[in-house]
Amino acid sequence: MDDLPQGEKPVSSQSNPIIIDGVMYANSGKQTVFAINANTGEKIWSFMALDEGEASAASRGVTYWENGNDKRILYSAGTSLIAINAKTGKIISSFGENGKVNLNEGVRDDPEKISVTLTTPGRIYKDLIIIGSRLPDFYGSPPGYIRAYHVKTGELAWTFHSIPHPGEKGYETWPPDAYKYAGGVNCWAGKSIDIERGVVYLAMGSPSYDFYGADRIGANLYGNCVLALDAATGAYKWHFQTVHHDIWDYDLPCPPNLVTIEKDGKEMDVVVQATKQGFIFVLDRDTGEPIFPVEERKVPASNLPGEIAYETQPFPLKPAPFVRQSMTGDDLNHYSDTDHEAILKTFRSVRFEGLFTPPDLQGTLSIPATRGGANWGGGAFDPNTNYIYIRGNNLPEIQTIVDANQHFAAQNNTRFELGRVTYEKHCASCHGQEMQGIPPSYPSLVGLKDRVAEGISLQKIRQGSGIMPGYQSVLSEQEINGIMAFIYNKKDAKIEVPQVTESENEPERYMNITPYRTWSDPSGNPALKPPWATLNALNLSTGEYEWQIPLGNDEKLQEAGAPPTGLLGRSGPMVTAGGLVFISGAADKKLWAFDKMTGDLIWETTLPAANNANVCSYAIDGKQYLALSVGGTTENPSGSIMAFALSAE
Ligand code: HEC
Repeated sequence: MDDLPQGEKPVSSQSNPIIIDGVMYANSGKQTVFAINANTGEKIWSFMALDEGEASAASRGVTYWENGNDKRILYSAGTSLIAINAKTGKIISSFGENGKVNLNEGVRDDPEKISVTLTTPGRIYKDLIIIGSRLPDFYGSPPGYIRAYHVKTGELAWTFHSIPHPGEKGYETWPPDAYKYAGGVNCWAGKSIDIERGVVYLAMGSPSYDFYGADRIGANLYGNCVLALDAATGAYKWHFQTVHHDIWDYDLPCPPNLVTIEKDGKEMDVVVQATKQGFIFVLDRDTGEPIFPVEERKVPASNLPGEIAYETQPFPLKPAPFVRQSMTGDDLNHYSDTDHEAILKTFRSVRFEGLFTPPDLQGTLSIPATRGGANWGGGAFDPNTNYIYIRGNNLPEIQTIVDANQHFAAQNNTRFELGRVTYEKHCASCHGQEMQGIPPSYPSLVGLKDRVAEGISLQKIRQGSGIMPGYQSVLSEQEINGIMAFIYNKKDAKIEVPQVTESENEPERYMNITPYRTWSDPSGNPALKPPWATLNALNLSTGEYEWQIPLGNDEKLQEAGAPPTGLLGRSGPMVTAGGLVFISGAADKKLWAFDKMTGDLIWETTLPAANNANVCSYAIDGKQYLALSVGGTTENPSGSIMAFALSAE
């Protein structure tokens, strides 16, 4: 990859390459698409669709379609779905408008004010490409309609309302007018298609806002559902809801696996869905009925005014959760007495009544939390053994809920101050109270004015960039101007602006000011004892785990003689017929191969930078390769695709 000059900030890529007839197609962190000779690594063509300075959005790969000699690559950059000629890398101008379809169009809200992007590439069914979307998780987000477009023309084929309209099934699980204002319920994590059945199975995300749902009382279908739709028409088939009325950000985080398992002597076609809360649901592919029993259990009630937490939630009796769902004071780390005392004090002060403890003004311990359990890399299935391999993250968070009216009141009488308040509300959760960031995941914004042109930052704030959501639909122009004054340190921008309207609208009153952040001690070490991440082998025939090992290591925090600590990772495993499970994607930059039956480490190597994408495997002329996207370094900020040849010994 060579789309960034030296000296630029290194980017990471989440792209999972695909290989067709000896050609590898992948996109970079900057959203350039490449065609590469999969044997030699030589570039055949590259294509960049974004205009200079236009914000990119994280993208996990591209989609291939062919019909006779017509071979196309479809992918998204910015807020467009784009079709290019797979042989030449040239845009296909007869698709959409000059090769592009504007994803902002047709999702209820003003296309000028929203930012709909795709993290996970679309999937092909015959001559259709079926897509989900990525949206902000905040109040004011558009709804995540599911759409299919004709591959040849870019014409819209069908739309499924993920927040049902009057007369549509599931409408009664929302307040009557919610379909006009509620947002989220998007499929960002991915979907799988059963071509024979003609059914698409979608992993749906939660409704917005993530942590307070007074404006959406009810079960909120099709939020957090495995949703089965007719791939040709978008007609509803069945759904299975994994969380009712989500107030924890438990989006379904990865595409469902469509697999055939052997159970009680019979072959069964199933859908396997891993979740952030650490459950794995195994569902009949035709009916959505669970294969292992699932119980609706009573869960704690909410204390927040206006909120009604759902009374029950689904608990599978099998398989057991693959990450921790509970902790006590004994599970807290003890790196120093003062740090231990501080986290013990927090632990005792917050509300925690097990899984599904609602966000609370007292502070809530959430375990697993927003980045817990499974993540977008998903599971890898081995048809020879019926084992599925899943990475699990154990990362509790403290959800700090504030009354926005009180918390942000009376500070906002200049553009700069309005910016400060807006920053605290919307940006501090990732970029830090002092703009220090949480490296390496979330960059520092300190000294931005010496590094980044204002126009470029403004684009990123409006449209999102990488894993950062776009704020065009969420913030007013005034608020965005305020933020620009704040992050560019224009203290004297003392333009008087009217007071931000006190929210009379109760539903927008409560906010979580510490989401998406691992709970750490004052020195920055994780509050929970290791392992922080694991790789799990689950036997789907029995619902029992065959093995579970810590994945990744923080050498500084590993205690003498103790097993590896495990490290947060988002990408998923890949299993080969030859008996190996390959996985990468933690901060220690390792790529590992484990024995698929035992979990024993067979081979490892250290990559030049962290990898943040799944590994793929392919064969050319009898030679088997392994390839993966590796993040940028100072010398090579664009990052690279690395390929390894596998030799049988
Ligand atoms: C969910 C976490 C998250 C939130 C919330 C978030 N950001 Fe970001 N932001 C990121 C990440 C990750 C990047 C790096 C991605 C990239 O540069 O492509 C980033 C990049 C940026 C950059 C570019 C920095 C650079 O060095 O080029 C700016 C400016 C920025 N964010 C501003 C904001 C503002 C302002 C807000 C609030 C309105 C905000 N962000 C909210 C995660 C977040």
